[in-house]
Amino acid sequence: MIIKNKPDFGKIQKIDVLNLKSLEKRAQKVIGKGEFGYIEEGSDDEYTKQHNTTAFTEFHMVPRVLQDIEQPDQSTNFMGAKLESPLLAAPIAGNTLAHESGEIGLAKGTKEAGIMMAQSTFASKTIAETAAVSDGSPYMFQLYMPKDWDYCKYLLDEARQGGAQAIILTADSTLGGYREADIINQYHLKGKIANLDGYNTGKKGVGAGGLFAESMQKLNLDLINKLAEYSHLPIIIKGIQHPADADAAIKAGAAAIYVSNHGGRQLDGAPASIEVLPAIASVVNHRVPIIFDSGVQRGTHVLKALALGADLVGVGRPFSYGLALGGWKGVKAVADHLKMEINIAMQLTGCQTIADVKKIQINSNTHIFN
Ligand code: FNR
Repeated sequence: MIIKNKPDFGKIQKIDVLNLKSLEKRAQKVIGKGEFGYIEEGSDDEYTKQHNTTAFTEFHMVPRVLQDIEQPDQSTNFMGAKLESPLLAAPIAGNTLAHESGEIGLAKGTKEAGIMMAQSTFASKTIAETAAVSDGSPYMFQLYMPKDWDYCKYLLDEARQGGAQAIILTADSTLGGYREADIINQYHLKGKIANLDGYNTGKKGVGAGGLFAESMQKLNLDLINKLAEYSHLPIIIKGIQHPADADAAIKAGAAAIYVSNHGGRQLDGAPASIEVLPAIASVVNHRVPIIFDSGVQRGTHVLKALALGADLVGVGRPFSYGLALGGWKGVKAVADHLKMEINIAMQLTGCQTIADVKKIQINSNTHIFN
């Protein structure tokens, strides 16, 4: 792993954040039309994308009072990593679509904020470039299982050398959902797939279809052991929505379960991610940690996810918008804002620590898989 140049953080500026939702419209003004469409879109009618966020309202936290809460502490430990907050910048392909610094800016912003970052196989910067900035701070590598095992071994070697604490195998995206913004905008994912270039296959500039063509469609449970044996890293399965899949993955050796519907970009009509979390947490039953994402925009959403069984909460698009608006400082501003909302929500629910948050009583009329 050789890093020749100093990291280029591009244009950076401090941004004010009122809330995460408002970043979308602001970012639209600074990102190209096709690029913005690709980042913002969900699949089909975007029912699942919208419902991911609105479904949080179906879960109510019952506050406790007289709990002597003065300085809530949201620091936590996830699979050995010390975090200032139980937050993860979810893996996103091609971050240079949002900002010239791409994953380098994301790595710096999450590092400064003391939260976890995950880098996508389809990142715009190589694992080595990103790791050089990340430099020992909490970092995981997300794998789209390549068809070519030699390329897979290359990615795992790079991830290990880059200090990845775990490999996240994404299982819900052997093909992309039907996303209309790309058709309307005649947009094909542009830019280089840095890790593919790094491997030097000569296949440059592949579009979104080409990306999925590079990935293996026939995923199965045996892959978990194969990846763990080669990489000597914990394997996390991303895209779990059914309790039976969580159970099967754990029995096959998964070190953590990542509950996600890809931010509503895959199967439209799937339940909101938060709706399936309780049943999955019940089946997982603390055997392994749980990561959760899709639709998170508020500190209260983070608390609800933690109280319903998550150990780490991922945020996708809002970090892309923060990156677009301010480079690494924008990423940090998004994390800092969310931390501030989490602090308020902790105090208002009567929680001093994340362990307390996990005990918040949640009332809901939503019963999925029960
Ligand atoms: C993604 N996501 C994703 N997931 C993954 O495992 N590998 C990837 O390369 C990508 N790429 C990607 C690109 C873009 C533009 C988006 C918006 C999302 C899914 C991502 O990790 C996460 O599951 C969702 O973004 C979470 O939903 P929210 O927070 O965006 O609502």
